[in-house]
Amino acid sequence: MPSQEPIEDSGGGFLITSEPFYLPSANEIDLFEAAYGAKLPVMLKGPTGCGKTRFVQYMAYRLGRPLVTVACHEDLFASDLVGRYILQNDETVWRDGPLAAAVRMGAICYFDEIVEARKDTTVVIHPLTDDRRTLYLERKGEVINAHPDFLLVISYNPGYQSVLKDIKQSTRQRFVALEFDYPGIENETAIIQKETGIDADTASKLVKLGRKIRNIREHGLTEGASTRLLVYAARLIKAFCFCS
Ligand SMILES: Nc1ncnc2c1ncn2[C@@H]1O[C@H](COP(=O)(O)OP(=O)(O)O)[C@@H](O)[C@H]1O
Ligand SMILES: [Mg+2]
Repeated sequence: MPSQEPIEDSGGGFLITSEPFYLPSANEIDLFEAAYGAKLPVMLKGPTGCGKTRFVQYMAYRLGRPLVTVACHEDLFASDLVGRYILQNDETVWRDGPLAAAVRMGAICYFDEIVEARKDTTVVIHPLTDDRRTLYLERKGEVINAHPDFLLVISYNPGYQSVLKDIKQSTRQRFVALEFDYPGIENETAIIQKETGIDADTASKLVKLGRKIRNIREHGLTEGASTRLLVYAARLIKAFCFCS
């Protein structure tokens, strides 16, 4: 998945060409399409490994938009996102960062785990989240008006961060929030089968085990078993059975 690489692309390199498998839980596809149509930024709220990233990949494919993903972390500066001047053959040239590239090409720009981002990055995205839909390249002195198809999407895990790391109300209120959670029993079993090719009986046992572990979490275990973890467990079981 492209992230903090220098980008000069018309969108082709970021297009998802084959349909990602995504099993919806409720009306999240319709809600996302409505937000996209209304040019409203979207926040995907939910625990890790419950299908947020897969959903964005699916929606990018469905809407035919390129997808630029930015994995947020505390060493990621605003300049990494908007771009910088670099030296090229004794010349100073401007290089768009992933956000600037996404804004110009009309991509879906997905900020994964926004709470991990530095404060200066949230300042940069604010003017993109209201009716201005602009990005200011401070060092270049340029204001980019977002391409009509540009959409900002962030993911946020509410149970994860400390109060110190929570996102500000003023940021949160700018997004249409879609709530995610682990899929229901039937859906999760189907997902594990489809993702790994494991038999229905083993998939069903894994899902039951996963739900029990999630239940313990509510009684003090810090991390529950995510759908991702169950998919990994199924892959491991399959590989092990194949070897022995
Ligand atoms: N609704 C779903 N449809 C298809 N696969 C899913 C779904 N939910 C979870 N998965 C599986 O779980 C894995 C982890 O999901 P991911 O989207 O990476 O989680 P998140 O971004 O919420 O941490 C995916 O790679 C996929 O195998
Ligand atoms: Mg993710």
